[in-house]
Amino acid sequence: MKCVVTGGAGFIGSAIAKRLEKDNHDVVIVDDFSAGYDTNLKGFTGEIIRASVIEAEKVAPAIKDANLIFHLGAMNALPDCSNDMVGTMEVNVKGTASLLDMARRTAAKDCRFVFTSSSAVYEGSDKLPNSESDVPNPHLAYAISKLQGELLCRSFHKSFGLPYTIIRPFNVYGEGQDFRREQPPVMCALAIPLLQGKQATIYGDGTQARDFIHVEDMAELFVVAATHPKGAGEAFNGGVGKSVNINDIYKMICKELGIDKEPVYAPAQGLFDKYPALKEGNFVFRDEAVTHESLKTTLADTAKTKELLGWEPKISMEEGVKRSVEYVKKNL
Ligand SMILES: NC(=O)c1ccc[n+]([C@@H]2O[C@H](COP(=O)([O-])OP(=O)(O)OC[C@H]3O[C@@H](n4cnc5c(N)ncnc54)[C@H](O)[C@@H]3O)[C@@H](O)[C@H]2O)c1
Repeated sequence: MKCVVTGGAGFIGSAIAKRLEKDNHDVVIVDDFSAGYDTNLKGFTGEIIRASVIEAEKVAPAIKDANLIFHLGAMNALPDCSNDMVGTMEVNVKGTASLLDMARRTAAKDCRFVFTSSSAVYEGSDKLPNSESDVPNPHLAYAISKLQGELLCRSFHKSFGLPYTIIRPFNVYGEGQDFRREQPPVMCALAIPLLQGKQATIYGDGTQARDFIHVEDMAELFVVAATHPKGAGEAFNGGVGKSVNINDIYKMICKELGIDKEPVYAPAQGLFDKYPALKEGNFVFRDEAVTHESLKTTLADTAKTKELLGWEPKISMEEGVKRSVEYVKKNL
């Protein structure tokens, strides 16, 4: 099958692209490399189109005759998205609409459009665990752009019959995670200072918890949901159904590194300090928006993936942390 992976040079996209190649599919990656790396594509032999998802004329050859389109290319750093709402909507919403439009005109007759949403659409919900039938009511720019993408998939399906599947990843972690970015993912943010002989900082009291899913499991869920007949027209949570708090993650990392060091605890508002632009202007980003985001607990209801797709994650947190820490240690 001809498979397209937008954002294929990124953390999750590259894992999906490599997984698809392993299954003998023809894979085309579309990525503008704004947050993607050639190093993620070691061993990948398919075509790579260096373009933004909004550059329709450059992306068109990839979409033509595609059987599966995995759309992951997006602005996804939360503070960046809040700071640049217009740019976020341009890439995440207009980019998605443009791909869907191309898909309905030129993709293969059996094409399925797989949209990467996010557990962020549950932001604002007090209910745990979150199931796919919950009504999302987010307010952050990133989450809104993902919800818009979901609605566009539904619109193209209802209007034109284009099949789609939506995946809502929770906290994806593992080898290949981008530890170089301004605000690295939490596991890297804790491991890096420890590896440099410094103290790690935990924002808040560390009792906030996330549903962490290893990237290998995540890539497998994408492929299973995309190719399963019961995956069409559905949204699926990408989580494991367990929350692990940051203090426990920290202990696991310390154990893995053989380090016995106390972390420094800092106010949750500090998490976005590296983004001073959010505090410029007449209306500045509210501290409570940061604390709410930082201190939240996420938990996926995984009943639907089990029942409809017969899918369950395989990699334990212990194994996943071990592999992630080894990756950061080797590549720092
Ligand atoms: N990592 C997580 O925990 C998580 C959780 C929920 C949702 N997601 C979603 O999964 C997708 C992949 O996330 P990731 O963690 O691999 O992030 P990532 O930043 O590693 O990958 C995103 C990729 O998209 C590319 N990209 C960005 N803008 C683009 C554009 N305009 N055109 C083409 N390519 C573009 C980047 O260069 C990068 O290679 C994103 O859509 C993200 O919102 C991720």
